Amino acid sequence: MTDGPIETARLQLRNLTSADVTECYLSWLSDPEVLRYLEVRFSKPGSLEELGAFVKNVNDSTDTLMFGIFRKDTGRHIGNIKLGPLKFEHARAEIGFLIGDRSSWGAGYASEAIQAVAQFGLDHLKLVKIGAGCYETNVGSMKALLKAGFLQVATIPNDVVSDGVRVASLLFAKNR
Ligand SMILES: CC(C)(COP(=O)(O)OP(=O)(O)OC[C@H]1O[C@@H](n2cnc3c(N)ncnc32)[C@H](O)[C@@H]1OP(=O)(O)O)[C@@H](O)C(=O)NCCC(=O)NCCS
Repeated sequence: MTDGPIETARLQLRNLTSADVTECYLSWLSDPEVLRYLEVRFSKPGSLEELGAFVKNVNDSTDTLMFGIFRKDTGRHIGNIKLGPLKFEHARAEIGFLIGDRSSWGAGYASEAIQAVAQFGLDHLKLVKIGAGCYETNVGSMKALLKAGFLQVATIPNDVVSDGVRVASLLFAKNR
């Protein structure tokens, strides 16, 4: 699916094209710090061809809407954020995000993007609920979700392996 773009104070969120499939974007997917809490670490694209196929698949899908996160000050592609799977039957979707450019961490970009995309889902796509999840060890993700107005709704104990240790998953939601 494609839609948008979405403008925030410091970011443009827009669908990715083949021109955005760069070595820089690919490099995020071999950075252990970026991958640390992401499921994609088990099945990541390893080449520009595979990354291009991934972007095309997402854009062609009927249940996922992915935006690249671009800084307005530099024009730089710093991460991605997606709504998906979208369950229109239940008027809900999951949100997932990564800031792959580590020099952009800790500046509020994830919170800003999450807030804007969740609002887009609630207002423009007429969703009633946006869900999100993270490992309990992913403090940055948890704080970004809370800052973007999500509430923690559940803890699933002993759910995933993080740095070789079983930890809980935390579930969050934002409702219309
Ligand atoms: C987690 C992630 C999205 C955070 O992005 P970010 O742009 O740095 O987040 P923000 O700057 O909006 O941070 C929100 C808050 O969390 C804090 N924070 C960010 N990273 C943190 C970390 N690693 N440890 C502790 N606090 C952190 C920020 O300081 C900020 O705190 P504040 O509200 O007191 O100002 C980013 O580090 C990332 O993409 N990591 C790799 C992929 C990933 O884990 N994605 C999420 C999967 S669920």
